[in-house]
Amino acid sequence: MPTPVVAPLGRVRHDGGADGPYDRPVPAEDGPQLGTPTLIGPRVLLRAPVPADADAFLEAVRDSAALHAGLATPPATHEAFGGYLERLAGPTVEGFLVVRRDDGALVGRVTLSQIFRGEFLNAYLGYEAFAGQERRGLLTEAVGLVLDHAFGALGLHRVEANVQPGNVPSQRLLARLGFRLEGYSPSYLRVDGAWRDHERWALLTDEHRGGTADA
Ligand SMILES: CC(C)(COP(=O)(O)OP(=O)(O)OC[C@H]1O[C@@H](n2cnc3c(N)ncnc32)[C@H](O)[C@@H]1OP(=O)(O)O)[C@@H](O)C(=O)NCCC(=O)NCCS
Repeated sequence: MPTPVVAPLGRVRHDGGADGPYDRPVPAEDGPQLGTPTLIGPRVLLRAPVPADADAFLEAVRDSAALHAGLATPPATHEAFGGYLERLAGPTVEGFLVVRRDDGALVGRVTLSQIFRGEFLNAYLGYEAFAGQERRGLLTEAVGLVLDHAFGALGLHRVEANVQPGNVPSQRLLARLGFRLEGYSPSYLRVDGAWRDHERWALLTDEHRGGTADA
């Protein structure tokens, strides 16, 4: 069953302050309030996940166990999916489901987390394709749209992605989008129960789309 395209729900608020590198929740009347937007590309549409997505999302995660093994651990239970939606209601994370425009199929997920405002203006990027949808360039298109948003409406200065050394598809995706390899972090992150070395890749706003983006 193709996943229906559902209008985005929920508002994500961001600290508009510039008094330090640390972000913080702000009163509703303060600062800009940006909802997780719907982003539309030639082949994919990105939107905020909603509770009605749970079954299709969890089925896609189950079907993607081999693709994600040792690399990514998206929510795999109803409880974890609920926690994911709760985190997305906070001010420092924006999460997108990626759906194919032609048939509404769920093809993956992209997340901007630890969105820091102030003098840092940085976020961390994560993404997963779902099995059967990978290697079609859809995640490259989706992450590109999220970067347009990050450097455009969100006004970020830098986006960082951390990738395991052997994860060639992820390295190629980042390289194609202009990310630079900055360094190597031994035992950086616990993924799938083990501490794993990662490469640190980053992209600055003036490097995005070769510096030609309207950001
Ligand atoms: C990384 C991932 C999201 C890429 O998704 P995808 O749908 O294959 O991405 P795309 O089709 O846009 O392809 C990205 C690039 O990887 C290449 N690629 C994809 N699968 C590949 C594979 N198994 N081996 C080598 N290259 C591969 C594509 O050819 C493309 O390279 P190009 O742009 O130079 O042609 C997907 O492999 C995935 O979900 N992996 C598991 C989770 C994960 O690693 N997440 C990222 C953690 S840092």
